[in-house]
Amino acid sequence: MSPGARSTADVAGLVVRWQRTHGRNQLPWQNTRGPYRVWLSEIMLQQTQVSVVLDYYPRFLARFPDVRALAEADLDDVLALWSGLGYYSRARNLHRGAQEIVARFGGAFPPTAEALQTLPGIGRSTAAAIASFCFGERVAILDGNVKRVLTRTLGFGDDLAVAANERALWAKAEELLPRDDLAEAMPRYTQGLMDIGATVCLPRNPSCLICPLQTVCVATREGRPEAYPVKSRKLKRSAQSLWLLRAHTADGSVWLQKRPTPGVWAGLYCLPLFDSREALEDALPPKARRGLRDAEPFVHMLTHKDLHLHPVEAALPAGDWRAGQEGGWFSPAQWPQLGLPAPVRRLLSA
Ligand code: ADE
Ligand code: SF4
Repeated sequence: MSPGARSTADVAGLVVRWQRTHGRNQLPWQNTRGPYRVWLSEIMLQQTQVSVVLDYYPRFLARFPDVRALAEADLDDVLALWSGLGYYSRARNLHRGAQEIVARFGGAFPPTAEALQTLPGIGRSTAAAIASFCFGERVAILDGNVKRVLTRTLGFGDDLAVAANERALWAKAEELLPRDDLAEAMPRYTQGLMDIGATVCLPRNPSCLICPLQTVCVATREGRPEAYPVKSRKLKRSAQSLWLLRAHTADGSVWLQKRPTPGVWAGLYCLPLFDSREALEDALPPKARRGLRDAEPFVHMLTHKDLHLHPVEAALPAGDWRAGQEGGWFSPAQWPQLGLPAPVRRLLSA
């Protein structure tokens, strides 16, 4: 093993030292810890390139120099200054956010990422950027660029389309944060990760040879930086139609049966499900097939599937009409105690 950093425990130091000499240090929203200026820049930079923000940022600040000026402004004037930047909800959120900062915090920005996140338009990563830049708080950012840098550095190959994996990456991002001298290190580290993502660790052909993380980076050691991050296309959602038999007796009891495992709603009590209306009819005694009533179909979304549900009502004599099934007649008083899928519960209570 060559001398020098080989462990991801060194990531913070490498990024901080590199940022001092090789990072971007002359952008107009840097070299200030004024949260209003930093907030404005981060919102503008969310969906807009630096070169464009360099044009809009000074004009916006000249017109609305502080949070009170923005809070008291006419929304129309804010939107006019935003004109051409796109994603106008950002401007509306800025305006509303300024008013909340005045109303809820007396005009002073709350100094933690947790509190900043309660403001409109400020998500977890943006809140962390502001809190680390302005207050030296030890909190992780994880925007698209930083995800790329960190998944490559760590060799994190789990699919980020899965929420649990994304949470795991957040946790790793937190472990990597600087531990000492936070007032100086946190702004540099946060900016450094952004700078590496924007100038070195590019989506295609990253410049590993000049990257400060090269010595610790798993992806470059594997020779396949572009293999990260892994994010499946939002799993193509499938659709399925199901017919639900709402069989009830004269006294209002409904036939419910336990869903098999594996499968949709495994182990829960449910109305009998069928793949077609014909299959539903076939399951009924001939006499009951005549009085069927179709209720309004609706869509229920599962994680990877849209269920198009077609409820069908049937009046049946009480009795064990589907022998061999794990089910029975349940009165309305019993429904609350059963494990029922949410759409079935709603259907029953409707
Ligand atoms: N993108 C988001 N925040 C940024 C910042 N502080 N500097 C440069 N680009 C950014
Ligand atoms: Fe990205 Fe290459 Fe740096 Fe690894 S070494 S972080 S892949 S630029």
